[in-house]
Amino acid sequence: MPKIKISPSILSANQEKINEEIKEVEPYSDLIHVDIMDNKFVPNITPQSEYLKKLDTKIPLDIHLMVEDPSNEYIQSFIDANPNLIINNITVHQETCSNLKKTLEYIKSQGIKPGVSIKPKTSLDAIKDVLDIAEFFIIMTVEPGFSGQKFIEEALPKFEELRKLKPDADIEVDGGVKAENVSLAVKAGANVLVASSFIFGSDDKVTAIKQLLDNAK
Ligand code: DX5
Ligand code: ZN
Repeated sequence: MPKIKISPSILSANQEKINEEIKEVEPYSDLIHVDIMDNKFVPNITPQSEYLKKLDTKIPLDIHLMVEDPSNEYIQSFIDANPNLIINNITVHQETCSNLKKTLEYIKSQGIKPGVSIKPKTSLDAIKDVLDIAEFFIIMTVEPGFSGQKFIEEALPKFEELRKLKPDADIEVDGGVKAENVSLAVKAGANVLVASSFIFGSDDKVTAIKQLLDNAK
């Protein structure tokens, strides 16, 4: 299995001092997880690509698009938003892409890792045709839309299944991750750990990350 990576989701960070929040977690983060929502695919909304303009970090971004059928132009707006940022992956949802393969190919053509995400009730079968194109996988362990929800253990078998098929891939667990359940996801095959409320809702963000890492062993 590839190495364990930490990707704090800044969804529940204090947006008024977002760059200070990021600075605190930077030394312990491999990626910074940016959640984007449109109030269509999910019942919540965030700023769109303009959000990236205010971010200041050298840590590569892990962009999670929870939006209805994103077009190439829409995806490009994130790539163009802030030339000072590094984007590791742009991840789209299987459930909404009218041509998932094409969307992933477009992301790849821009030199960014194409990612695919599935909701807790979507089976792995739904992405079997893109296993070779996708370079990043998000298996959601909450219904997408909000941070601070409870971890859905029923999604765990999908990590095992996918890890068997993609032994070297980055497989991310997203939703409800905390010190007490992180080992379930890692044992099942997840290696990229997203957490928002557990890290940014804690008085000591660094200790929270260290707890995740300790329990991921
Ligand atoms: C939920 C987002 C998650 C969310 C995780 O739709 O995709 O990335 O920010 O938040 P926690 O860790 O609080 O569940
Ligand atoms: Zn996310």
